[in-house]
Amino acid sequence: MKFIQVPLNEDDLVIHATLVGGKVVCHSKIHRLSETVWRLFWIETTGDKRSHGYGSAHLKNLIDQIKNLDSKARGFAFEIPSRHFDRLEEKLETDEQLERQRRGLFYERLGAKLWDGHNNPYPNNQLQKVELMWFQLSDTLIGQSDIEVMLAYLKQTHPYWFSN
Ligand SMILES: CC(C)(COP(=O)(O)OP(=O)(O)OC[C@H]1O[C@@H](n2cnc3c(N)ncnc32)[C@H](O)[C@@H]1OP(=O)(O)O)[C@@H](O)C(=O)NCCC(=O)NCCS
Repeated sequence: MKFIQVPLNEDDLVIHATLVGGKVVCHSKIHRLSETVWRLFWIETTGDKRSHGYGSAHLKNLIDQIKNLDSKARGFAFEIPSRHFDRLEEKLETDEQLERQRRGLFYERLGAKLWDGHNNPYPNNQLQKVELMWFQLSDTLIGQSDIEVMLAYLKQTHPYWFSN
């Protein structure tokens, strides 16, 4: 198994791939949100290669890579579709519920923390459709300012994830 960074001429967008026998089995896109925060834009394991451990191995390598790449990085943030179904207007199918639970557990097993402030600091403008998570990258804990960078980004790019 080989973990590589795909060369790009962009400072703040980085693509990585995990290859087996020269073929991509998992890839991810990350981008920088601030001096201290990176965001996972996307991760995907090739359909028939899922549940073989490639996604977990890729994420572990990715976290190490960001730490090496950027000594100032404190947090590696991302969002997952909400598991708090009561906050969603629509009723989810059971399959979808299970998939969301499994996805959340996948990240938690790898050490991701869940932001517990979904009701705060935007009481009248809550993040509802997704849950915010992150990996801690350094001994300096991510702070409220880091969370706000992420919330501001999501608010700009996905305003419909927030309640009115
Ligand atoms: C999330 C993803 C990258 C995990 O990759 P992977 O190579 O299958 O990961 P691993 O083999 O290391 O771990 C598999 C575990 O991930 C969990 N999991 C995470 N997302 C899942 C999903 N959408 N469906 C099923 N299981 C999922 C399961 O618990 C699974 O364990 P299991 O095989 O015992 O059921 C992969 O499921 C995927 O590409 N999903 C589609 C794209 C996606 O949803 N990306 C994440 C956006 S938030």
